[in-house]
Amino acid sequence: MANATIIDGKIFAEAVRARVKDAVTSLKNDHGLIPGLAVVLVGEDPASQVYVRNKKKQTVEAGMASFDHQLDVATSEADLLSLIEQLNNDPSVHGILVQLPLPDHIDSEKVIDAIDPKKDADGFHTINVGRLSTGKKGMVPCTPLGCLMMLKDQLGSLAGKNAVVVGRSNIVGKPMAALLLRESCTVTVAHSRTHDLAGLCRSADILVAAVGLPEMIKGDWVKPGATVIDVGINRIPKREEPKKFRLVGDVDFAAAIEIAGAITPVPGGVGPMTIACLLRNTITAACRIAEVDEPPM
Ligand code: GUN
Repeated sequence: MANATIIDGKIFAEAVRARVKDAVTSLKNDHGLIPGLAVVLVGEDPASQVYVRNKKKQTVEAGMASFDHQLDVATSEADLLSLIEQLNNDPSVHGILVQLPLPDHIDSEKVIDAIDPKKDADGFHTINVGRLSTGKKGMVPCTPLGCLMMLKDQLGSLAGKNAVVVGRSNIVGKPMAALLLRESCTVTVAHSRTHDLAGLCRSADILVAAVGLPEMIKGDWVKPGATVIDVGINRIPKREEPKKFRLVGDVDFAAAIEIAGAITPVPGGVGPMTIACLLRNTITAACRIAEVDEPPM
């Protein structure tokens, strides 16, 4: 019998988007401010094209301005840097997102660090990484921000909880750990070289899985009653029709649901929160740049 509460990211993200839409309306009415998000995609990676299309749709639905830059895969680094410069100087653009991964001939770090940190909607700029880890106000990466919002909604205060983050990427694992530390959790970041990962996971009141390996975290690694956030999105062959695919997370959901207190499903958990938080970040950036108070979101 399944025990855990399923944290519905679709409903949660809808609620965030509704608040974002209200915030956009009040910024328009009170300050004549229309937050604008520019998305830059280089090349034709199909997964990236889907993300970018969804981002555009949701930006427009929220009443914000959306600026799309779809560049040829052979675009030079210099041309990309000059586009970033142009967007940095464009007053109608408040958030800039360069879709990753970039083609191999482009230095991603150089491109990200060319974005004005105030407009860094992804929170990937070195300055924003430093701001997050030193507890200063900055832009926070969208996926970990979404995870944190769901955790706080589920648990209230996170202070004193043991949090284990499995995965040490710059996009999820490291910023997630910094956010949980900011909430006064006792944080451990685990990775491929960690000894006794199962035992470590069993000590976690909060378990965040962001490794990118299908169902790697087993049900009996979960502490009874723990809150489990599964960031993984992995395509694996369907059991009955191996030519077709299904999406699974980094956690063995069917087993973990028996033991956890609450858990996010895949799909429909963390995924929908990422774009909702991107919209939120764009409003935050617009308010800071225009020096107006941020409406509640
Ligand atoms: N590619 C996969 N996830 C992301 C993300 O959150 N931001 C950007 N810019 N690219 C990505």
